[in-house]
Amino acid sequence: MYKKFLKKYISKSDVNIYKVFWQFSMSNAIIIVVDDNDKFVGIIGKDDFRKAWSSPNIDKMTAIDICNRNCTRIFDDQDVYAMGRNVFADFAFNNIPIITRDGDVIDVFTRERAFYRQLYVEEKLPRMHYATQIWGAAYEAKKLGYDAISVIEFGVAGGNGLINCEFHAKEIMRILNIGIDVYGFDNACGLPESSDGCKDMVHLWPNGLFQMDKALLEDRLQFAKLVIGDIKHTADIFCDEYNPAPIGTILIDVDYYSSTVPVLGMLEKDDRFFLPRIYMFFDDVGAFYEFSGENLAIKEFNLRHEFLKISPESVALEGVGGWVDGFEGWSGWAAPTKRVKMCHRFKHPRYTQSLYNASKDKSIQDVWTTTLR
Ligand SMILES: C[S@@+](CC[C@H](N)C(=O)[O-])C[C@H]1O[C@@H](n2cnc3c(N)ncnc32)[C@H](O)[C@@H]1O
Repeated sequence: MYKKFLKKYISKSDVNIYKVFWQFSMSNAIIIVVDDNDKFVGIIGKDDFRKAWSSPNIDKMTAIDICNRNCTRIFDDQDVYAMGRNVFADFAFNNIPIITRDGDVIDVFTRERAFYRQLYVEEKLPRMHYATQIWGAAYEAKKLGYDAISVIEFGVAGGNGLINCEFHAKEIMRILNIGIDVYGFDNACGLPESSDGCKDMVHLWPNGLFQMDKALLEDRLQFAKLVIGDIKHTADIFCDEYNPAPIGTILIDVDYYSSTVPVLGMLEKDDRFFLPRIYMFFDDVGAFYEFSGENLAIKEFNLRHEFLKISPESVALEGVGGWVDGFEGWSGWAAPTKRVKMCHRFKHPRYTQSLYNASKDKSIQDVWTTTLR
């Protein structure tokens, strides 16, 4: 049996080739062909389709007719990273199936996973701003002696951001040898009714925008937990009900002022639920919108608190700031790396604990000194 997050890659052997091609274009990777018992048969890649298109029998072909049974694979009892790196160094493809000796499909290993640390340094990973926020928190936590942290994305919609969190968390856990729990908060029905259209900037984001297909997303997720409901409620009860590992990274993409306020309200919970400094990403701090939306929520939060501060408070002022026809979007947003902030918990008992030589764990010192993988 294969894991549910692999569904998008899996095709039964008797499925018509056009259907398989549609699935392939959605998976953007490879198709793994399995038999009636869900056991591995082979894979189909771009070249296999290319060969099939010239066949006069194409209409009658199924997955089994074009799949490559002699493809490269890695067995789950092998050193997946060492094997994968060797293969990726020699061949141009980007995905390798990982299977058990019994033929069960376990995972799809990618070039980005094989060379994660090198691509991190070269800033070539998807959603680099997510990578740096998760890495930064995990690295500090490790130095301070924590053994696990939590990463939260507020505003999940289709789930592309949350799936990215999982990808980065998985590799950073391996490299830094620290636990990372991932949570995604959403109401699963799009932007809620707004009670203050100006502050929520509804001229940019109408009510109902960004729907989640919850069942589809649950199939794609590997270990992230969805916290479904209005953030005004879930952000309030989360710490007490879930007792999460200390929260080190908060990625905010809820668009509205009225949804950002309860997210920041969560920071008022007890210090034990947080690292002393929390890496934060605000997706919607844009040029010219200093007195509404996320910017206003940050200003008000900083005014309210003497010992809790979000820095820098200022807007990200790099965007062009106009409506772009054709693209149908407002171009007032700076690059994601300019929308990153940090919450300082000045009264946190570990705020002043030194980060220099803080970790006796040699593995953390080796992170940058060993080969970048
Ligand atoms: C822009 S989308 C998130 C996109 C996602 N982060 C990504 O990268 O693909 C904004 C999401 O915030 C959610 N949202 C906004 N306000 C909310 C609230 N008060 N409670 C729950 N969800 C909310 C909406 O349902 C929507 O799915």
